[in-house]
Amino acid sequence: MAMNLAVSFTGLRFENPFLLASAPPTESESNITRAFDAGWGGVVTKTIGLHPVANVAGPKTKFLRATPESTQLSMKKRPGTALHSSWNWELISDKTLDWWVPRLGRIKQAYPSHVLVTSIMAGSGSDAELRHWQTLAKACQDEGADALELNLSCPHMDRPDMGSNIGKDPELVSVVTQAVKEVARVPVWAKLTPSTTDIVVEARGAFLGGADAISSTNTFPSLPLIDPETLEFEMNVDGLVSSGGLGGPAILPQAIAKMSQLTQAFPDHAFSGIGGIADFGHALNYFLLGCGTVQVCTAAMLDHAIGPNVLKQLLAGMRETMERHGWSSLEDFRGQRRDRVVVHSKIRRPEGEAYRGGYDAEGYAAAEAAAATEG
Ligand SMILES: Cc1cc2nc3c(=O)[nH]c(=O)nc-3n(C[C@H](O)[C@H](O)[C@H](O)COP(=O)(O)O)c2cc1C
Repeated sequence: MAMNLAVSFTGLRFENPFLLASAPPTESESNITRAFDAGWGGVVTKTIGLHPVANVAGPKTKFLRATPESTQLSMKKRPGTALHSSWNWELISDKTLDWWVPRLGRIKQAYPSHVLVTSIMAGSGSDAELRHWQTLAKACQDEGADALELNLSCPHMDRPDMGSNIGKDPELVSVVTQAVKEVARVPVWAKLTPSTTDIVVEARGAFLGGADAISSTNTFPSLPLIDPETLEFEMNVDGLVSSGGLGGPAILPQAIAKMSQLTQAFPDHAFSGIGGIADFGHALNYFLLGCGTVQVCTAAMLDHAIGPNVLKQLLAGMRETMERHGWSSLEDFRGQRRDRVVVHSKIRRPEGEAYRGGYDAEGYAAAEAAAATEG
């Protein structure tokens, strides 16, 4: 049977459904062109803004590793460890829009059939800030960007009108999306934060504003761990730390929980899945829940900066899985497990004699012990 890895997502054709997420792998022209040469279906650029950006002194990302057969979790480099997560407090691109514009144009000229999504960010506290979104959107699409991803989710912004502070407010999500949609000639994806009670609420705001897709998720707010010997945070500047973002394997189960809520609430909308993907088995979770594309960051950062081997595994895994199940395209399996996530009371209990009123359930006292206490 003919097998087709290409997908159509928000009206755009991707050679395959695997994208590099907005982050260091897509921070420069050379990285993006290397990513296209490696065969990524698309890239989302590092987020571009209009405000001046100055990163912290010292490393912006580190990797937390677990030691097998021990309880140790540490960022310290040591042999024989397994990746637990990435932790970063990197801001958006510290390059200006003027720096990006000619590069976006050159990339699109050299790779006209590869999908270039530009990630953009501005504030939301005034009409002037909303116009900044429009300026960014117009500049990127004029250079040939195929889609725009709105960064409504950066977890380390002090400004109350930016990043995940927009993403936590469904009305602001709507207003910003609408402002961009007013000028956009290309699809608009809204990238949401996982750091809210019910992501469906913010997604509804984005769709009401006209978003063509939701990207989920950005990193989870977190701190690096404290070194028990030095009593210092493993990542700090002059002993100080600030909330940053957790990515990588540790967030996969949490990120798919968010995605499951989204795809159930909006089964007919488009979703790009992000969080903890390093191989096709991971990506499959997102596809089976209903995503049309997925994005990778941490795993690519650790694989020659743009993930050529990660991509090879994703492509080989997709081909092998499709062959095994007799699927000819992503549409044959997209969403197949979306409806398997149900409310707790819908999960079958043991019946009749086998179920003794809950007394045998974990956390309940045995009947005799309870009687003895009462007596
Ligand atoms: C160092 C670093 C920088 C990032 N910068 C951005 C950014 O500029 N814009 C954005 O939308 N997401 C940014 N992200 C978030 C990633 O795009 C992605 O959502 C997140 O890392 C989860 O995916 P992962 O588990 O594959 O890493 C960044 C992540 C890391 C680790």
